[in-house]
Amino acid sequence: MMKLQLLKLKGPDIIPNLDKIGHLRLNVFRDYPYLYDGTLEDEFDYLKSYSSSETSLVVLAMDGEKAVGATTCLKLNEADSGFRSAFQEAGRNTDSTCYLGESVLLASYRGLGIGKQFFQYREAHARDLGCTMTAFCAVDRPKNHPLRPSEYRELDGFWQAQGYVKHPELKATFMWKEVQQTEETAKTLTFWIKELNSPSL
Ligand SMILES: CC(C)(COP(=O)(O)OP(=O)(O)OC[C@H]1O[C@@H](n2cnc3c(N)ncnc32)[C@H](O)[C@@H]1OP(=O)(O)O)[C@@H](O)C(=O)NCCC(=O)NCCS
Repeated sequence: MMKLQLLKLKGPDIIPNLDKIGHLRLNVFRDYPYLYDGTLEDEFDYLKSYSSSETSLVVLAMDGEKAVGATTCLKLNEADSGFRSAFQEAGRNTDSTCYLGESVLLASYRGLGIGKQFFQYREAHARDLGCTMTAFCAVDRPKNHPLRPSEYRELDGFWQAQGYVKHPELKATFMWKEVQQTEETAKTLTFWIKELNSPSL
């Protein structure tokens, strides 16, 4: 049986692990639905907001010495302005919201309950920060996208089971280069929100 361990890293403790987190993101987000074709430099740049933050948490899933998954969060006010502006434009409070960055798990480690634990760790951290809400966003893709694998299972059911509600009116737009593309193109992402004072499901 695998000996999986979840490590909690905050602020500067993230720095020695940037390589591991960056590689996991590049590896997992290359697949549908993200199709992200990025570089390790882009990753280090993106992850700076976590390593320099006083409100961030990264949880690394370790199988012995091997990093097999990672999840991130920080206060929405410290997240990339592209995430914050969706909330500001909708007149929503950004101060009491914890932004959940990503959950990435190597395929052979899925279905073991780690994804659920990633939410539990980040929601506990959000409560410690005094936040009343957690929010994340997921890329919008049409159901008939040509690169959607036939066995792909949408995560909407998983997120609903964790207590999240989709907010189609709250969207962020980001640019990235996709596999099989030469230029960055714009993508929209839709937010999902959980009120932390709602009874846990
Ligand atoms: C998202 C992710 C981290 C989930 O991790 P995971 O460890 O496989 O999830 P869990 O094992 O905790 O799944 C929990 C439950 O959700 C269920 N579930 C998993 N995927 C589901 C889906 N697509 N729809 C409905 N339920 C789903 C599982 O059956 C399990 O339920 P159970 O405990 O009642 O059997 C993993 O799938 C992943 O890395 N995906 C690729 C990256 C990605 O899309 N990340 C999300 C956006 S950042």
